[in-house]
Amino acid sequence: MAEDRKTFYITTPIYYPSADLHIGHTYCTVMADAMARFKRLQGYDVRFQTGTDEHGEKIQKIAEKNGISPQEYVDQVVGRIRKLWDTMEISYDDFIRTTEPRHMKRVQDIFMKMHEKGDIYKGQYEGMYCIPCESYWTKTQAPDDICPDCGRPLKAMKEDAWFFKLSKYQDQILDLLENTDFLQPVTARNEMINFVKQGLEDLNVSRSSFDWGIPVPIAENHVLYVWLDALTNYVTTLGYPDEDAPEFQKYWPAIHLVGKEIVRFHSIIWPGILMSLGAPLPEHVMGHGWILLEGGKMSKSRGNIVDPVKLIERYGIDALKYFLLREYTFGQDGLYTNEVMLNRLNYDLANDLGNLVSRTTAMIEKYCGAVVPEAGPEEGPDHDLIEMGTTTADRVAEHMDQFAFHLALEEIWKFIRRTNKYIDETEPWVLARDEADRKRLDTVMHNLAESLRIISVLVSPFICHTSEEIRKQIGVAEEPVRWEDTLRFDLMGGKTVKRGEAIFPRLDIEKELAELEEMQQKQMAEAKAKAALEAEAQGTQAAPVSSAKEAEPQAPAKEAITIDDFDKVELKVGEILSCKKHPKADRLLISQVKIGEETRQIVSGVASCHTPEEMTGKHVVVVTNLKPAKLRGERSEGMILFATNEGRYEFVTADAPDGCEVR
Ligand code: ME8
Ligand code: MG
Repeated sequence: MAEDRKTFYITTPIYYPSADLHIGHTYCTVMADAMARFKRLQGYDVRFQTGTDEHGEKIQKIAEKNGISPQEYVDQVVGRIRKLWDTMEISYDDFIRTTEPRHMKRVQDIFMKMHEKGDIYKGQYEGMYCIPCESYWTKTQAPDDICPDCGRPLKAMKEDAWFFKLSKYQDQILDLLENTDFLQPVTARNEMINFVKQGLEDLNVSRSSFDWGIPVPIAENHVLYVWLDALTNYVTTLGYPDEDAPEFQKYWPAIHLVGKEIVRFHSIIWPGILMSLGAPLPEHVMGHGWILLEGGKMSKSRGNIVDPVKLIERYGIDALKYFLLREYTFGQDGLYTNEVMLNRLNYDLANDLGNLVSRTTAMIEKYCGAVVPEAGPEEGPDHDLIEMGTTTADRVAEHMDQFAFHLALEEIWKFIRRTNKYIDETEPWVLARDEADRKRLDTVMHNLAESLRIISVLVSPFICHTSEEIRKQIGVAEEPVRWEDTLRFDLMGGKTVKRGEAIFPRLDIEKELAELEEMQQKQMAEAKAKAALEAEAQGTQAAPVSSAKEAEPQAPAKEAITIDDFDKVELKVGEILSCKKHPKADRLLISQVKIGEETRQIVSGVASCHTPEEMTGKHVVVVTNLKPAKLRGERSEGMILFATNEGRYEFVTADAPDGCEVR
């Protein structure tokens, strides 16, 4: 009975529609999609939810900058996000927009429930806020007023506010992190344990300095903190806070797949909220790493953004999905380059899989009149092949339980390569020369057909079009794809194969690289031209909509200062002698900077844009009389200046020896 099936609920973060999404968001969504498809294939009743996080100060500011209302702004971007997921055939079951009435009403009910529990109180908030991260920080956490997460300047805030007694749940949260496998991977868990041990403060859950949010039911002129609004999306769609709502009963708790920079919200604040509500906690929070580009994080204005749509147009949906799932190790950061991607497509898809399909179908057509023969007795490498073929599914499932997509695919490719080797070992073209070897040739052809059938099932959650194409070519397109059929090796006799086009054409890597490069250059030029046109039309400074992501809302012009004020700042040229990553903070780099006679250690929040290698050797401008500070435990004596360009930190270099004063 369908009702008795085990359920599986997986979510992606709901993305900010502050700009179009890029390959990083695509990576997360593709993983969730593969997992959802995999669990469906295993027989689970799956719910896969994604959506958009549409409220908050960041969105309001970006809309203002574009001269339209926040609602108009998000409607446009969300339309394009949904189109992207349609193009990529993302199999989500629900798409939540936090501006939908079904969500807004229930978030208010959730707030009231926490209030009735006695966990909400009124107070005064005074502290620092990071708008791009929509995140509060205390003086201890961010002593230099720089966001410890993204390295951008914090904004001072002081307002009447409503607080959630998060501190009350500190011990319970610590217990959850320390004594369960709630949060994975282990690196994320350790980091969060340390964070909680430093002490949790109550959380400001209301804002009054802007209005783009869900109204606080008991306070005029306050809107709910955007993360309270956002995190609850995972349950409002299920009917919560009605605990008896059928969908809530059926699907909750979920597994949340999130990028590592928002693990803190999901593994501390979200459990805290649920503890207050007395609701079951999520099953797991799975933190994944980032996709980085050479020379830093993606930035549309630089034209180095990797647009998933362009890659799909050129290479197909399956190629992009396969690459993302196979290339990166879950939980770790990985570098994107066109070359790495193209090599994956050529070696794994065109060579290993593509060749196997075309060789096998061609041979069955040539030697067996296109009809798969029955197998004779097992011989030689048959046993090894059959053994591996019928046990791969179990190993794949084990890796999938760990979200180790790359290992799951590697397991399948081991079998694909084994099957290719089987052809070389059995040499069917030699068997075909002698009628006495007929039975053996039949057996080999049968075994190859079975192997391809198993492969078509194994790859289907990851690259479903390829699976369909293989099944078409081996004559089983009409039959249901069933996971349990991977255990069989006797289903292909009598099927008619029909060789088709190569499933993945071999790419000329040099040529592709050059063309991708050219395409990206063109994209950059277009983005710039568009920005210039818009600026002309509006009589404003260039600020293209498409580059809004990661762009900080423009700070208001600062108040005028005198030459004496400026004189207080000591600026000098420094040479970066060496540079390394901060052991405890992904966004920070630690440089040894030579400034005349002395060498100083300076910590900079630019790891998202520059590698230590890029930093080394640069002659930069340093604020040398800044009070020394400790950044996540590392001493920093001064500040290296960078030009902020659409969220990117460009070097401010000096054509002068180190030690020179900058005036
Ligand atoms: O944080 N590499 O939304 P967001 C890998 N609205 N993944 C990346 C990536 C990259 N370079 N860039 C983005 C928010 N991601 C909140 C979430 S949830 C209740 C609210 C992925 O638009 C990754 O999954 O900033 C990351 O966590 C997410 O996009 C952040 O999306
Ligand atoms: Mg983000």
